[in-house]
Amino acid sequence: MMRDIEKVLITHEEIVQKSQEMGQQITGDFKMCTDQPLLVVGLLKGSVPFMSELLKSIDLMLEIDFMDVSSYHGGTQSTNDVRILRDLETSVTGRHVLIIEDIVDTGQTLKKVVGMLESRGAASVKVASLLDKPEGRKVVLDADYVGFTIPNEFVVGYGLDYNELYRNLPFIGILKADVYA
Ligand code: PRP
Repeated sequence: MMRDIEKVLITHEEIVQKSQEMGQQITGDFKMCTDQPLLVVGLLKGSVPFMSELLKSIDLMLEIDFMDVSSYHGGTQSTNDVRILRDLETSVTGRHVLIIEDIVDTGQTLKKVVGMLESRGAASVKVASLLDKPEGRKVVLDADYVGFTIPNEFVVGYGLDYNELYRNLPFIGILKADVYA
């Protein structure tokens, strides 16, 4: 896999450190919401490595659930055709929800999911994303917790894929252009 990587943008150590800081911040922000356990929602598949790291540092009673939402459909460009491939098993009505994402690019995925969970009557919907690519934004949507702001490059690793590959890289790297040319 390393042969296909132009440059390591964010190291594993930096991700672990940032996840700990974010988890502590989330713990502080939600500790007063004691009426029901926090519902942490991972958006499959990209959020899985970051979600597992982040959860270790959230010191709260919580439940986890997953939604499978897809907007890239295999390429390097996000589309506005956001499809819900798997919905939550848990009702969000009256619940404080924290959505976990690997990256906010155009913002279209999160806009759709946040709107959907709010319309189902969630008490609050917040978003934690490992990466933010603000230059890609097409809709008004900002994550409440952001690990790293990155330039407008196609990145892989730590959950992010190209054609379903590279998700298992333990860092965030820029893919060589000739891999997807
Ligand atoms: C990616 C990523 C985010 C979304 C961000 O998911 O994991 O969910 O795109 O893009 P946006 O801000 O432009 O909507 P993808 O559809 O590739 O599914 P995956 O998580 O299974 O890779």
